[in-house]
Amino acid sequence: MAAKDRFMTNLIEIKHVRHAYQTKAGPLPVLDGLDLAVPEGGFVAVVGPSGCGKSTLTKLVAGLLKPDTGEVWLHGEQVKSPRSTVGMAFQNPVMLEWRTILQNVMLPLEIVPTRLGKAQQQERARYLLSLVGLEGFEDKRPSELSGGMRQRASLCRALVHQPEVLILDEPFGALDAFTREDLWQIMHQVKEKEPFTGVLITHDLRESIYLADQVVVLSGRPARTQYVLDIPDQGDGPRDIEMLYTKETADMLHDLRNQIEIAQGRAPAA
Ligand SMILES: Nc1ncnc2c1ncn2[C@@H]1O[C@H](COP(=O)(O)OP(=O)(O)OP(=O)(O)O)[C@@H](O)[C@H]1O
Ligand SMILES: [Mg+2]
Repeated sequence: MAAKDRFMTNLIEIKHVRHAYQTKAGPLPVLDGLDLAVPEGGFVAVVGPSGCGKSTLTKLVAGLLKPDTGEVWLHGEQVKSPRSTVGMAFQNPVMLEWRTILQNVMLPLEIVPTRLGKAQQQERARYLLSLVGLEGFEDKRPSELSGGMRQRASLCRALVHQPEVLILDEPFGALDAFTREDLWQIMHQVKEKEPFTGVLITHDLRESIYLADQVVVLSGRPARTQYVLDIPDQGDGPRDIEMLYTKETADMLHDLRNQIEIAQGRAPAA
């Protein structure tokens, strides 16, 4: 059975969204006719030219911005205000230096209502840190960790309150190539143990193919959904990094690269 056949409903649904920022120079249209659907348990990567509106899209899903027209739905409810059921991780994780790593990971539990008692909260944070290989670093301060380790801790923090949706906005962009590949594999391991519905914003096409079930290419600004590539089912369990070195992946990379060039206006649409 293909992984997608197991998904029953779309957890995230973005329907023909338009959004413009009001600037001193007048309205700046950023999204214009954007459609996106992510099934429950699915993982969609969004790629597109710089400045086309990808981070804006994440703010709409989290309810931090409202679309001018169109609709954003999360788990069958229209998003009209900020959602605590969304976990987010960004390129440069902001960690509080006066708190330990464990305390940083537990931060969302102080904001989002939880049924977990204090001891269970700690247990959950410790468990997540062990999943990403940070056992033994719970009492360190953020500055004592490497960039890759901080990003792993930030992933734990985004997941600690068991969000319905995990949004990752270029989370691995600042890491070196090897650390990034490690983090990709950790992502698959974490998703197996702590299933989530994910949206990944990235500029790295290999990353989009290795991590996602579907890659959505946005057009240049104002962005609309230009192209959707389904990644063939790779079977259950964490994906083998070797999949990146197959002819099939090379063809997909080529395809996406062409689409980005079209989005950038550097190549004509077929
Ligand atoms: N709060 C804001 N007010 C006005 N303009 C904004 C605001 N936030 C973003 N923009 C503009 O909207 C456009 C889209 O921004 P956004 O951050 O969504 O792009 P992006 O696709 O995430 O870019 P990148 O790939 O560089 O991260 C950009 O031109 C940006 O300058
Ligand atoms: Mg961005």
